[in-house]
Amino acid sequence: MKHETLTVELGERSYPIVIGEGLLQHAPKLLQEAGISSKSQLLIVTDEHVAKNYLEPLREVLATEGYRTTASVIAAGEQSKSLSVYDRIMTEAIQAGLDRKSAVLALGGGVVGDLAGFVAATYMRGIDFVQLPTTLLAHDSSVGGKVAINHPLGKNLIGAFHQPRVVIYDTSALHTLPKREVAAGFAEVVKHGLISDEAFVDWLKENADRLWELDSELLAKAIQRGCAVKAAIVSEDETEQGKRALLNLGHTFGHAFEALSAYSALNHGEAIAIGMCIAAKVAERVGIAEKGVCEQTERVLSLYHLPTKWPAGLTPEAVLEAMKRDKKTVGGKLALVLPRAIGHVELIKDIDEEIILTVMREEVEA
Ligand SMILES: NC(=O)c1ccc[n+]([C@@H]2O[C@H](COP(=O)([O-])OP(=O)(O)OC[C@H]3O[C@@H](n4cnc5c(N)ncnc54)[C@H](O)[C@@H]3O)[C@@H](O)[C@H]2O)c1
Ligand SMILES: [Zn+2]
Repeated sequence: MKHETLTVELGERSYPIVIGEGLLQHAPKLLQEAGISSKSQLLIVTDEHVAKNYLEPLREVLATEGYRTTASVIAAGEQSKSLSVYDRIMTEAIQAGLDRKSAVLALGGGVVGDLAGFVAATYMRGIDFVQLPTTLLAHDSSVGGKVAINHPLGKNLIGAFHQPRVVIYDTSALHTLPKREVAAGFAEVVKHGLISDEAFVDWLKENADRLWELDSELLAKAIQRGCAVKAAIVSEDETEQGKRALLNLGHTFGHAFEALSAYSALNHGEAIAIGMCIAAKVAERVGIAEKGVCEQTERVLSLYHLPTKWPAGLTPEAVLEAMKRDKKTVGGKLALVLPRAIGHVELIKDIDEEIILTVMREEVEA
């Protein structure tokens, strides 16, 4: 089996991410290697779209090695990261007889991963968790151990840190993913390059066509590299005290666009793509960015069919207000991750609001 591997180094919570075409067929072996026993019942959480293609094949291959599984299939979409769906899965887990040696398998994108991970983190005070990502964006959620559900008053407000035992990333699953979701995933891949790896950004530019067509070897490399950048940062800062903030490049703007999405209708990847472009413009304006950073940021994002221009219908004033409400702003002061160069970002605190507003106003007019 041809694959890329990466270990997320977190002491005794370290775990491997195995990436390759057709890996779901090797799930039993990979589970065994991760110490997941076939003695206890496993719970597979997945959504309706993913279930259609991948649930039965997974259950069958697991059954051949003596793994007993039960499945919870949720409705696709962010609204399933809710207390009521969490409650339903807990009930199904108890009724299926899951015990302390059982594991929860998240087969799906970031929604399934976050929800199933939170189930695993809290079922009987925490049981084993395995991720089987089926979206490109989920390369991001497969590193870091953040698991959560939403509260009606805010996203991801109920959660925990719970690291998976293993991540089994079958790149062939990405072939059924809608292209708009593929692009959204590439926004986070590009982000990981922009944060700390200029050579990776160049590689993403050179290979954009083949990657967009999901060439499996290149895709495995891109996922591996994206995960590696995040893993290096998370290893230094597992519980988000400092360095992990750098992963928010483009996100303060992006979250604001999403919060106002009743008007803009952007998905997360699209929102942060535009956010990264605006962050680059602010960086140029405050004089910390090398020449060409904006242009290069826009260029690489456009190669992956992502938007780079101001979202029509949003006003800079509304966006600034939404940015101040973002839970990552502390004490009302705006701290932004800004690029100094491609592959080098910094958290800048106390940025003058007027500068941010001016840059945004110019964007609206552009
Ligand atoms: N925990 C973290 O560190 C972290 C990081 C980033 C994002 N997230 C969370 O991830 C979520 C977004 O993740 P996402 O973009 O993967 O969304 P998602 O899980 O909703 O998947 C996107 C859509 O694609 C469908 N889908 C998934 N795999 C498919 C496949 N192989 N073929 C066809 N359709 C498929 C899904 O049913 C859904 O409709 C958000 O809730 C976000 O908060 C978490
Ligand atoms: Zn993100």
